[in-house]
Amino acid sequence: MAVFANGILFEGVDTSDPNCWKIEAYQARGGYQALKKILTEGISQDDVIAELKTSSLRGRGGAGFPTGLKWSFMPRSFPGDKYVVCNTDEGEPGTFKDRDILRFNPHALIEGMIIAGYAMGAARGYNYIHGEIFAEYERFEEALDEARRAGFLGQNILGSTFSYELFAHHGYGAYICGEETALLESLEGKKGQPRFKPPFPASFGLYGKPTTINNTETFASVPYIITQGGQKFLELGKPNNGGTKLFSVSGHVNRPGNYEIPLGTPFAELLEMAGGMRGGKKLKAVIPGGSSAPVLPGDIMMQCTMDYDSIAKAGSMLGSGAVIVMNEDVCMVRALERLAYFYHEESCGQCTPCREGTGWLYRVIHRILNGEGRPEDLELLDSVGNNMAGRTICALADAAVFPVRSFTKHFRHEFEHLIEHKTPLVNHKWC
Ligand SMILES: Cc1cc2nc3c(=O)[nH]c(=O)nc-3n(C[C@H](O)[C@H](O)[C@H](O)COP(=O)(O)O)c2cc1C
Ligand code: SF4
Repeated sequence: MAVFANGILFEGVDTSDPNCWKIEAYQARGGYQALKKILTEGISQDDVIAELKTSSLRGRGGAGFPTGLKWSFMPRSFPGDKYVVCNTDEGEPGTFKDRDILRFNPHALIEGMIIAGYAMGAARGYNYIHGEIFAEYERFEEALDEARRAGFLGQNILGSTFSYELFAHHGYGAYICGEETALLESLEGKKGQPRFKPPFPASFGLYGKPTTINNTETFASVPYIITQGGQKFLELGKPNNGGTKLFSVSGHVNRPGNYEIPLGTPFAELLEMAGGMRGGKKLKAVIPGGSSAPVLPGDIMMQCTMDYDSIAKAGSMLGSGAVIVMNEDVCMVRALERLAYFYHEESCGQCTPCREGTGWLYRVIHRILNGEGRPEDLELLDSVGNNMAGRTICALADAAVFPVRSFTKHFRHEFEHLIEHKTPLVNHKWC
């Protein structure tokens, strides 16, 4: 299902070639040149971080936090262990980009993580991989072996004083383990439940040691920034939104798949690349950044460009870059009910507002869908949401509330119609 377009992560990667992921193919594309440049030209840790800041690379895991700034938080002078952790948990509905990095270009991630270890003074890294993807996990392990054999991992890498080891860890498939502190707990062998913050992982992370966690795509973007320069990466996108980005396009389009395009590309162009609307149907709505991002009506989306600032201005989030396209046949009550069920199932149960609130949201939306809605139900959804958002240990509760607020704001008439007439306004068809 992978389709790649115009960007840095998959430049020159022939995904139809079964060997495209191997170290020889990666090196033939210029792979490991960034690491060689750093270690042989003696580029300092500060210079690597400065280049990242120039690039305006923002974390690709959801929040869009500036990566160079995050790396500068690592207390490099801390005398004990320090860790680099990659988040390949990828459990957000609609998101399927990171697994394609493991599948087709795993060495870009490995090189990015080695550079991260060098820049932040860490001697050890882990990649936490979602428990439901098996072939990708095995491929990453094979790629790690190749990197070790080639001398890019281990003691005194390329004859330098820098030593670094990297390991893969297979999770168990819980969405909550994508939240960075739940991921750390799980990596430590404990129940995957988020920790209170502060302290943040930069000071108290894996095994209580300073730790930097980034998304797979974030790390994989680093080698390009080092070989080509932060300024060139920045110019691929637009100010404050540097580079190209992977978008996982799913739903009612002709060609669902992953599209790597410059940040700032109009949504209309992305839709066209994905083959346009399936069956020539009308665009009704888009979730632009994974299931926790607020839904936007199609006409608003058609005015947006695909970058953090444009989507935020329109009232949603670029998130992980998972673009879920819905056509005119979608019943928005049914779509929201499915999302609410997911969050209800995935709540880790630590916080009462989330544990109880996600259940309330699901049950109220479910009864509306089944023609048993009450006139006060929309107000009840608001009230439950207000008692959840911002009142919990992690952002899963907010992620459950955002879709409810946005669906009932933009498509309120469908909810009201179902409550009043007991039948859906739109005769729902999924495909
Ligand atoms: C419930 C929940 C699930 C998350 N799932 C993921 C995930 O699957 N992958 C990911 O990279 N970040 C996920 N995040 C965000 C991480 O906590 C963290 O911000 C991110 O890995 C940081 O990387 P970045 O700065 O490169 O974006 C999730 C956050 C929450 C609250
Ligand atoms: S908000 Fe929900 S998922 Fe997050 S810690 Fe609390 S109960 Fe767990």
